[in-house]
Amino acid sequence: MNKKALITGITGQDGSYLAEYLLDKGYIVHGIKRKSSSFNTSRIDHIYKDSHLSSNLFLHYGDLTDASSLVNVLNKIKPNEIYNLAAQSHVGHSFEIPEYTSEVTGLGTLRVLEAMRFLNLKKTKFYQASTSELFGQKPNRSNSFNENSIMIPKSPYGVSKLYSYWITKVYREAYNFYACNGILFNHESPRRGETFVTRKITMFFAKKILGSKEILYLGNLNAKRDWGHAKDYTEMQWKILQQSKPDDYVIATGKTTSIREFVNLCCKYLKLKILWSGKGIKEKAYLIKNGKKELIIKIDKKYYRPLEIDYLKGNPKKALKKLNYKLKHSLKDLVKEMIDSDIKLLK
Ligand code: NAP
Ligand code: GDD
Repeated sequence: MNKKALITGITGQDGSYLAEYLLDKGYIVHGIKRKSSSFNTSRIDHIYKDSHLSSNLFLHYGDLTDASSLVNVLNKIKPNEIYNLAAQSHVGHSFEIPEYTSEVTGLGTLRVLEAMRFLNLKKTKFYQASTSELFGQKPNRSNSFNENSIMIPKSPYGVSKLYSYWITKVYREAYNFYACNGILFNHESPRRGETFVTRKITMFFAKKILGSKEILYLGNLNAKRDWGHAKDYTEMQWKILQQSKPDDYVIATGKTTSIREFVNLCCKYLKLKILWSGKGIKEKAYLIKNGKKELIIKIDKKYYRPLEIDYLKGNPKKALKKLNYKLKHSLKDLVKEMIDSDIKLLK
């Protein structure tokens, strides 16, 4: 019989790739989408249309702030696996909507776990979308974070995710749940939300190539992130739930790159000559063409965060070994894929 999976956050970047992956594997996939005044299913419309033929994808209205909706959906489906990907996932925005972020990204996880307990879904496996934002502070003795690194989050988002991380472990120990944390470092794709820095940058350069005169406003260019591809990472989410025992895993590439370097990688791919000048809030970037300078990047203070994690690099040794996985995408390929896709989209 086909396995049944429930994905919260199916309309998001990861939810859409995971749904595709599970459908390919023969799963019956159920997704929770929240009520919105406009369509919010653009990332899954292509598979949803197909599903009218195959009938293996089902969407349900629900919300992580609404326990009754979760109990109803779980009761109806009784899934074999639950992937809890729904969250207010923007770190910067979590400073502006801290209470809502805590409700969704923190307590939302508890609501799903409680629904499982209430309905006595003892055989259902649970995946929690944990994050490198749990760590916050560069480790003293090592230059990368692993499953044992100290967790000192630095945003309402990170604190909410720390709650979810621990409540997942508590339900695993207290009630013998098969519940796991995937501690994922940043992962991107052409489906990344446009307010996250990589997509904001690739979309800007796609427009530039098509003749736009816009200027790109960014915040902290010195922050370093460990960027992987969402396709690799969603495959590992599935693998985490296929192990004989529940456990927690760091998923990362083991490489780190600054925002400025990411911009440079975009320029390299597009064969654009870029010149940086100035420091801090006064830093600017110019394109050099035919001996002329065109201002393309400026700093806007509003994109600085009240508190920032400057450095993230993960150590994925345990995950790659135990999950028997080899990453398929490099950052260079990711930049190319995102820019090409944005150019196609704009055209
Ligand atoms: P995303 O694109 O922002 O997707 C978030 C999903 O959650 C969307 O489907 C969103 O619905 C849904 N959602 C938001 N609030 C909700 C609510 N109150 N009730 C129900 N659903 C709600 O995030 P992502 O990049 O796919 O990431 C997936 C998960 O992994 C998130 O939990 C994120 O925090 C975590 N994570 C992401 C990364 C990364 O680098 N991408 C790294 C580590 C951890 P709408 O489509 O309607 O907005
Ligand atoms: N969004 C954004 N916009 N970030 C900027 C900008 C800008 O204009 N300029 C500089 N940055 C810096 C941020 O300050 C941060 O240091 C870095 O770019 C990455 O920002 P985001 O792309 O917004 O991602 P994030 O690292 O804060 O959070 C993402 O990764 C986490 C895992 O580490 C999200 O996907 C989280 O949900 C995820 O948990």
